[in-house]
Amino acid sequence: MKRRFQALRGTRDILPTEIERWHFLERTVHEIFSRYGFRELRTPVFESTELFQRSVGDSTDIVRKEMYTFRSGEESLTLRPENTASVVRAFVQHAMFREVAGGFPERLYYMGPMFRRERPQKGRQRQFHQIGVEVLGAAEPLADAETLQMLEAFLDALGLERRELVLGSVGDQNCRPAFRRELQRWLEGRLSHLCEDCRRRYAENPLRVLDCKVEADRKLLAQAPTILEALCTDCAEHFAEVRRLLDGYGIHYRIDGRMVRGLDYYRRTVFEVLSDDLGAQNAILGGGRYDGLVQELGGPALPGFGFAIGMERLVLLLPDARIPPRRVDLALVALGPEGFAACLGLARRLRAAGLITLMPLVPRPMGPQLKRADKCGARFALFVGGDGLERGHHELKDLHTGEQIGLDEAAILARLGE
Ligand code: HAM
Repeated sequence: MKRRFQALRGTRDILPTEIERWHFLERTVHEIFSRYGFRELRTPVFESTELFQRSVGDSTDIVRKEMYTFRSGEESLTLRPENTASVVRAFVQHAMFREVAGGFPERLYYMGPMFRRERPQKGRQRQFHQIGVEVLGAAEPLADAETLQMLEAFLDALGLERRELVLGSVGDQNCRPAFRRELQRWLEGRLSHLCEDCRRRYAENPLRVLDCKVEADRKLLAQAPTILEALCTDCAEHFAEVRRLLDGYGIHYRIDGRMVRGLDYYRRTVFEVLSDDLGAQNAILGGGRYDGLVQELGGPALPGFGFAIGMERLVLLLPDARIPPRRVDLALVALGPEGFAACLGLARRLRAAGLITLMPLVPRPMGPQLKRADKCGARFALFVGGDGLERGHHELKDLHTGEQIGLDEAAILARLGE
């Protein structure tokens, strides 16, 4: 027997039966994001490995152990584990910052697959999809608040009710080093109570200790100092202004002073949206400000702010009632070989008139054809063949009401075009 292949662990097929949910999501993305002046950018799925090392950060789990990296000649390449790095790379490469220098921030969005070699579990895959936005060139708290307001409008448009926005700040290059030392001092005496990973992180990047998932460690770490008390004046004022603007928009959020994001490029505002309906992997999305990244990747000193949403997680949460069903205007039911032959030209003309028309590709008896028309949700069935064929008359059956009438082609078009 020949081997039957399966989709690899951590990857999955998105089947036609679930595609309406994805289409609905994608349509809403284009519609809402473009209302706010965002334009789509599509970047390649692989980039130089160094791009991610320099942006996401060498000490992060993503770069240390989750990237799909391969050699191509002399070069080391990596399947993108996220897209902020690629967007900033493109922004710099195509000198999009010239417009921004004139005072007009660039607003970009994207959708597409990302790759991380994580342990697969519910809501966590090795190939997953993200929707993301990046605002480049605006340091003002208003950029944070406006983008979060768009995010809220987007999640509302999807009908997502049970969710929580969690907000924090991770400071900047002025206040974070001092906080890191303070945290290190606090951790020093407690290291023997923490797990091995924490001890390694303590040496490499102590802030990451706060992200430990081990229950006993979490209890202890809940008493650790938070960066919010250690923010410098500029960061504290920025954070206060973001909150003031969000309050003004009537957006609810919870403050978490110990939020750690899994990527190194963040400065100041960080946030996540969580849902209890997702299980252990409860983050629908995450993001924040990354003011040093454009410069780190060879561009001018311009700030950035953005977020990325896990599409699989979002698709799971979409309320069924919001998803428009598949639209099929009519299914042709061919009666006998003459009917079957007549279907060919007829289907072509109906489709040219914009009607979603299914027709049989294999001759089948009427019963199964009608059953199939019903099953695929067709609004009408059109019987082609028999007595009416010569006069160009066909029986049109409304599959919702059962009503049936004989009509010629022009009348059918008029009726279905209503
Ligand atoms: P992130 O928090 O690493 O941020 O990922 C964002 C979202 O992608 C997560 O909240 C989650 O919903 C989804 N996600 C991440 N990993 C997986 C996985 N293995 N399986 C399924 N879903 C996953 C970023 O990627 C940043 N680039 C976000 C950003 C944009 N920050 C600024 N701009």
